[in-house]
Amino acid sequence: MSPLTVTRTLPADATTAALRADVAHGLTRTPKQLPPKWFYDARGSELFDEITTLPDYYPTRAEREILITRSAEIAAATGARTLVELGSGSSDKTRHLIAALTDLHTYVPVDVSETALTAAGESLLTLHPSLTVHALVADFQQGFALPGTPGPRLLAFLGGTIGNLLPEERATFLRSAHDLLSPGDALLLGTDLVKDEATLVAAYDDPTGITAEFNKNVLNVINRELEADFDPADFQHVALWNAEREWIEMRLRATKELTVKVPALDLAVPFAEGEEIRTEISAKFREEGVRKELGAAGFELSRWWTDEAGRFALSLSVRG
Ligand code: SAH
Ligand code: AVI
Repeated sequence: MSPLTVTRTLPADATTAALRADVAHGLTRTPKQLPPKWFYDARGSELFDEITTLPDYYPTRAEREILITRSAEIAAATGARTLVELGSGSSDKTRHLIAALTDLHTYVPVDVSETALTAAGESLLTLHPSLTVHALVADFQQGFALPGTPGPRLLAFLGGTIGNLLPEERATFLRSAHDLLSPGDALLLGTDLVKDEATLVAAYDDPTGITAEFNKNVLNVINRELEADFDPADFQHVALWNAEREWIEMRLRATKELTVKVPALDLAVPFAEGEEIRTEISAKFREEGVRKELGAAGFELSRWWTDEAGRFALSLSVRG
C-alpha cells in the first residue's frame, strides 16, 4: 500500500493568524459575521458528517445518487489520471468517482480539516492500495500549488460547498480554480438548487439540534484558539431563507444582552439582546446562473445532471 502523504501548505501559525483576523474584523462590524470555514475543527467535521445523515438534509443523498448514476460517464468524458477534490471532508461520496476512474493515478484531497483528511486518506488507501493519495491541508480560498501529478486532471468541488461563498468570493475562487488547471482539464461542481422555502429551511434547522450544535461549534473554536469566553448556551441557532439573494443564512442570535471577552485580541465584544452573527450563507442555484458564473471564469459547462427529484445538480465543465 502506498503511504498517505499529508502536506500543510500554510505555516503552523497561519490558521490562528487567519482566525484572529476574521474574528477581529467580523465581530467588530455591523452586522456581525464569521466565515463558515471555522466550523470545521475535528468536532465540526464530525458534526457535519452527522448532518449528512439527517432525514431533512437532502443534498448529500441527492448528490450521491447522481454520482452513482453518472460516475462512469464522468470517467469516460475526462479520462482523469489525477483527481483533485476541494473541501473533500470524509471523501465519502468521492468513492463512487474513484471506483469509476479506471486510469486514476493520484487523488489530491484538499481541506482545512487535517483530521478529516487523514481519516479519509487512510480509509481510501485500504480500498485502493495502489492509489497515490497526496492530501493538502490548505484553504481553497487562498492560492495554493498542486503537487506535480499526471494529467488529465479533474477538479471536483462537491456537496454544494461553493454555495458557502459569497458571489464575489465565488468569482475569485472559480478564476483561481481555472488557473490551477490546464486547457482541456475538467471541473466537476456540485450545486444545490433553488426550491421551496419549507424544504430548504428544514434542511438547515433539524429537530435533533445537530445543525444548531454545528453552528455553535464556531464559538467553541474561538474559545479554544483565542481564549474567548463565549457561552454557546447564550446563543440560539437561526436558519432562514433570503428569497432575494436565494441563499439560506445561518445565524447565531444572542438570547440576552452580554459581552464576550477575546483576550488574545484584547477585545470585548458587546451583544444587544437579539443581536445576530451571520455564520454561513448557503446559496442555491439555477442552471443558467451556474453556466454564467463558470463561463465568466473560463469554463464551458458541458454536462448538467440532477437527481431524480431535481433537488441538486452536478455539472461537468471543460477548462478553456
Ligand atoms: N465535500 C464533502 C464535505 C463538505 S463539508 C461533502 O460533499 O460531503 C465542507 C468541507 O469543506 C469541510 O470538510 C471543510 O473542512 C472544508 N472547507 C470549508 N472551507 C474551506 C476552505 N476555505 N478551504 C479548504 N477547505 C474548506
Ligand atoms: C458544506 N456545505 C455545503 C453545507 C451546506 O449545506 O451549506 C454546510 C452546512 N451548513 C449547515 N448544514 C450543512
